Amino acid sequence: MEDMWSSTRVAVNRRSFVKNGLSAAGLATAGLLTTSEIVSADDGPDDRSGRLTRGDAAMLRFAAAAEILETDFWVQYNELAGVQDDEVPGGSGNPAYAAVLEAFDDDMAQYIHDNTDDEFTHQNFLNAYLESKGAEPVNLEPFRTLKGSSASGSSGKPRLTNLMELTLDTSWYTRYRSARHNPDLDPQFTFPQAVPTLAVGKHTAIPRTDADTTNANFLQAIANTAAFHFATIEQGGSSLYPAMAQRANSVEVLRILISIGPTETMHFQTWSDLAGDATPVTAVDPKTGVSVTFPDLNSAPFGGPLFQTNLIMPEPCPFLSRKLPRCSVIRPTETRGIAMNVVNFLTAMGLFIGQPPAFFRLMIQLAQEADAARRSS
Ligand SMILES: [Fe+2]
Ligand SMILES: [Fe+2]
Repeated sequence: MEDMWSSTRVAVNRRSFVKNGLSAAGLATAGLLTTSEIVSADDGPDDRSGRLTRGDAAMLRFAAAAEILETDFWVQYNELAGVQDDEVPGGSGNPAYAAVLEAFDDDMAQYIHDNTDDEFTHQNFLNAYLESKGAEPVNLEPFRTLKGSSASGSSGKPRLTNLMELTLDTSWYTRYRSARHNPDLDPQFTFPQAVPTLAVGKHTAIPRTDADTTNANFLQAIANTAAFHFATIEQGGSSLYPAMAQRANSVEVLRILISIGPTETMHFQTWSDLAGDATPVTAVDPKTGVSVTFPDLNSAPFGGPLFQTNLIMPEPCPFLSRKLPRCSVIRPTETRGIAMNVVNFLTAMGLFIGQPPAFFRLMIQLAQEADAARRSS
């Protein structure tokens, strides 16, 4: 963890920003960062009444960036398989894709819509709160350049995230079922994947074109990939907020983090239940030749306490110390380096494939500033 964090670390000051080829002035002009925030990583309390400490602002700004990215890909799912209404506008629905997702649960379209709506409110609230405190909000619009799905139902608008080349780490599935291991206490332990073939190769979670909806087997695999992606993302949010909350200075910032975080967990709980309903299937992507297998998680060699699909309540596990009794908790919640870990996690997922180096430099900058935040007391 520490190595992963330090290997991507770049100095947080204006000079290195310029040295790395990212124009600080350009970013400030684009409304991405203020010059004062680029210049200093000092997170000591700001004595201006009602203002945020630099660290609190940085953590909220990182959360806002994460929420903007979440919103972007949830919108893509909603356009194709959610409820089309004024609350989440944009698409017109892809009946074939939506029908396969609907087979998971009759309420799938509503759940996708409501998760999307929630992300919009997280993004909008965090940026508005930052501005209300005189702090800079996050604007990722200059990076809205990716081409999304051209299948029926998609708005065809440019995107921030790529849902068509995902590599999914589904180890959260066994991490929350493990009674003996907590990543905070066992950072070297490898939790088994629920869908090992999703952890290698690139997989699309949405129909790229209408051609992707013509093969029932492959379409089932696409929908299954989406179902596992939903939970994979939302478990990340479930860890991010409590991890950052431990370094909040203002009680109000603490309140924001511990009030948004559990809604990510409510999403995760729903999606982790539904992911277990994925119909077992093996399919080969006709475009890339990549194969994926969704196993029957209730039968050998799967099954048992680590894979049984109805074991969706978090299994009690070691927490803080093995000398203490096991406890049912969110895991991990280690606060050190959490923001950079999230950036690395999303990058490894393939969510940003197609984004230019300036996008990654900005995300690293936001993460480093958030990870530099310290509680003053
Ligand atoms: Fe969110
Ligand atoms: Fe979320």
